[in-house]
Amino acid sequence: MKKRILVTGGAGFIGSHLVDTLIEEKECNVIVFDSLEEQVHGKRTKAPSYLNEKAEFILGSVSDYNKLEELIKRSDIVFHLAAKVGVGQSMYQVKDYIENNILGTANLLDILANSEHDIKKLIVASSNTVYGEGKYSCDDCGIVFPKLRTMDQLKTKEWELLCPKCGKKVEPLLSNETTPFDPSSIYAFSKQAQEQSSLLIGETYGIKTTILRFFLVYGSRQALSNPYTGVCAIFGTRLLSGKPPIIFEDGHQTRDFVNVQDVCQALILAMEKNAANGEIFNVGTGIPITIKDVAEILSEKINPDLKPIYNQQYRVGDIRHCIADISRIKVKLGFRPTIPFKEGIDEVLNWIQSSANNFQDNFTKAIDILKDKGLLK
Ligand SMILES: NC(=O)c1ccc[n+]([C@@H]2O[C@H](COP(=O)([O-])OP(=O)(O)OC[C@H]3O[C@@H](n4cnc5c(N)ncnc54)[C@H](O)[C@@H]3O)[C@@H](O)[C@H]2O)c1
Ligand SMILES: [Zn+2]
Repeated sequence: MKKRILVTGGAGFIGSHLVDTLIEEKECNVIVFDSLEEQVHGKRTKAPSYLNEKAEFILGSVSDYNKLEELIKRSDIVFHLAAKVGVGQSMYQVKDYIENNILGTANLLDILANSEHDIKKLIVASSNTVYGEGKYSCDDCGIVFPKLRTMDQLKTKEWELLCPKCGKKVEPLLSNETTPFDPSSIYAFSKQAQEQSSLLIGETYGIKTTILRFFLVYGSRQALSNPYTGVCAIFGTRLLSGKPPIIFEDGHQTRDFVNVQDVCQALILAMEKNAANGEIFNVGTGIPITIKDVAEILSEKINPDLKPIYNQQYRVGDIRHCIADISRIKVKLGFRPTIPFKEGIDEVLNWIQSSANNFQDNFTKAIDILKDKGLLK
């Protein structure tokens, strides 16, 4: 019998790639349940054209108890990816993010706890943002977990983190799964809530649950009209519309960019391996890439004359560095990232060029909103 899989948020960027893998490589029957958020999909009520035709697409929100219950009753495994994903935006759409991400997940868990169903496995998409700044090392004090930089520090344009104990500059380390929670946005807070509530209900009702903390995922089908996510899509879109990328701070902040195909590898391993049950895993590469590097690589590929603008501005709540320690998922599940950033990024550029109608540069508008709310200085 083919496995019956429900993917919430399956019409989105990561979800749609997972759906392809589940159908084409794993021969599963897949239901996609997605509300087609306007910010991500524009105004549409039909599945996006990239969604695998063999998937059954159902339009609706995970906040709709009855609809979700009906789909859960027809499935064996749930991948829960539905979420609003704008970190900055979550700091002024507080209620929306809590309703959508936390209460949406609560609905799912309530159904799992109370309905009759055959769900054996639940895989939940979380995020590196639950770590905040993550793990650092101080020459004098050893391992420390600094809080976000204060406004006073940022005003002086001293961008690197300082030791919370002695005040000296600290060096970033790889964050592992035991790095403490320190969410610095409502989005991150919602991911922490999703994680903890899912593990609790999973354990209580014998549903094997796995949490995957994705770092910065990039690839085709990333929403281009959503100015709050995806630095590659944002820089690429600007460059292709003849504008230079705008870099916050000094560009030396680092991120762990993981290709969406490698994220799919992790999602499938989480589904198939018993060692994943009840566990939390980082999904990244362990390799830091500076934002400056990203802008330069893209400029070089698209238009070397468009040099990045360093405006020395900063966003409230932005982290400086956060790179994954992926030892756990390597050892327990055999995960291996396979796509280097310089190669994988070409797929994003092809995607931007092929999605002419999605091709709107909303970045300036988003910056204005953040400024207006006092979230960009
Ligand atoms: N892209 C990243 O770098 C990244 C990093 C860490 C975690 N994640 C997580 O991975 C998951 C997928 O993210 P993505 O990058 O593919 O984003 P995305 O916006 O492309 O996909 C999310 C999908 O969920 C849908 N959705 C939103 N609210 C919904 C609701 N209430 N009911 C049903 N569907 C709903 C949206 O319409 C969208 O299609 C999210 O949970 C996100 O938090 C993503
Ligand atoms: Zn110190």
